Amino acid sequence: MKRREEMIYDSHYNRLALLGKEVRGVSIFDTTLRDGEQAPGIALSMDDKIRIASALSDLGVDVIEAGFAASGDSEKETIRKIKELNLPSKVCSLARSVKGDIDSVIDCDVDYVHTFLATSDIHLKYKLKMSREEVKAKAVDAIEYARSHGLTVQFSCEDATRTELDFLKEMHIAAQDAGASVINVPDTVGVIYPSAMTYLIEELAKVTKVPISVHCHNDMGLAVANSLAAVAAGAEMVHVCVNGLGERTGNAALEEIALGLYANFGVETVNMERIGAVSKMVSRITGYPIPYNKPIVGRNAFAHESGIHVHGVLNNAATYEAFRPELVGMDRHIILGKHSGAHSVRDRLNVLKVEFPDERMNELLAKIKEVSVGGKEIDDAELIAITDHILWSRGEEDPIKLKEFAVFTGKGVTATATVTVEVDGKKRTSSSIGIGPVDASINAIRCAVNEKITLEEYKLSAITGGSDSLCEATVVIKGAYDDRRLSVGKAVGLDIVATSVDATMEAINRDYIRGERS
Ligand code: KIV
Ligand code: ZN
Repeated sequence: MKRREEMIYDSHYNRLALLGKEVRGVSIFDTTLRDGEQAPGIALSMDDKIRIASALSDLGVDVIEAGFAASGDSEKETIRKIKELNLPSKVCSLARSVKGDIDSVIDCDVDYVHTFLATSDIHLKYKLKMSREEVKAKAVDAIEYARSHGLTVQFSCEDATRTELDFLKEMHIAAQDAGASVINVPDTVGVIYPSAMTYLIEELAKVTKVPISVHCHNDMGLAVANSLAAVAAGAEMVHVCVNGLGERTGNAALEEIALGLYANFGVETVNMERIGAVSKMVSRITGYPIPYNKPIVGRNAFAHESGIHVHGVLNNAATYEAFRPELVGMDRHIILGKHSGAHSVRDRLNVLKVEFPDERMNELLAKIKEVSVGGKEIDDAELIAITDHILWSRGEEDPIKLKEFAVFTGKGVTATATVTVEVDGKKRTSSSIGIGPVDASINAIRCAVNEKITLEEYKLSAITGGSDSLCEATVVIKGAYDDRRLSVGKAVGLDIVATSVDATMEAINRDYIRGERS
């Protein structure tokens, strides 16, 4: 990989603010298969989980929380299968602080357990109905039990960020004395603020000798910021989910944490160039779409459309990008659409090796604007079709102008079209029916222009596969001006009927122009 400075174009204020804060190693604890799967609507099969676990391991996460063993036999079986893959990542299971749950983890043959027990007064009063002393004793018992079976234990004080500080410190001391190797600080309902997280971690670090980890939820949109603040304050492990999946609004997104750690602290935690592919894979398997504007992996993360931005990015990507897409296995997209300017269109034509004269660029931009109504993006095949069409078209005034055109169609009704054309400055309006809207429209044009016109050939094709694809209509007619000669008309557009009408008018006009010149 290239040097960090060549990949990231961040703010120099970050370095000033973080001066003196040295962060050495940070481990990534991925809980996509546990907290991520708890997101409403996600239900992963054993095969799904195995595929995701392998991808996470290739990505290089340190720990995979593969599930919650006590939740059922098939969950146990899945965790066992993941462990049997012998992946380089450690495989862990969640467990409540009860012996039965820890026995289920032992049944899976894993050697790492994540135990938890709530410690905030709200949870003690309304959920657990236990005193602080009882909670502490229960957590300690579970940790000691797991340790006595040879398990590595990470312990979480659930709802830590709403737990009274002295009690939280007491819990940390008790957990480490009982043998926990890592103590996690969950922001269970995503309520803490970054500088408060800094304060909390610094306070806990005063009494915690084992590494501290953080598990931040995103209810207030601060999961990533809080996790990074925790790292700056001394946390050594971050819990993440791919694409920010998880309960309610999710957990800190793996991709954002990995990038944030690298950009701000120079810490490389995972194989970042695999991030894009893993994100897509998890989205496909879970059925949770990646929002277009999702940082790092969203479709728009490296997409530029407006003329000013494209011009800047083509000269130097740092003008409008925070980091290079290849750093995270993504691609840059220069989008051709409503906001495109001549620079982006010219650049795309150069890439496609399409020669197009500068003097017709305005026509091309106008056509791109016309067909990108409603936010449609123009892909390469469509751009080529539009340029072909402009180069093929005459670029001169039509002797017969289409002034108005309307078509009425539906199921169980006869398609009817009405057109108004202008010939020699005079308007002519005609209506006609047909077996469909295209047929009715072409019939109406014939009636308005010249009844002798016959349709010899008609071809319609979608340029790309999508339902919003541009279409290309080719019409061959006879008898507009000269009834022995064939005349071809072509048009490109979004609407099948309107494009067919444009192609018909083009064929008629070509025949007229040729006829009047000969
Ligand atoms: O959000 C949370 O508190 C959890 C615990 C199990 C750590 O997911
Ligand atoms: Zn959680």
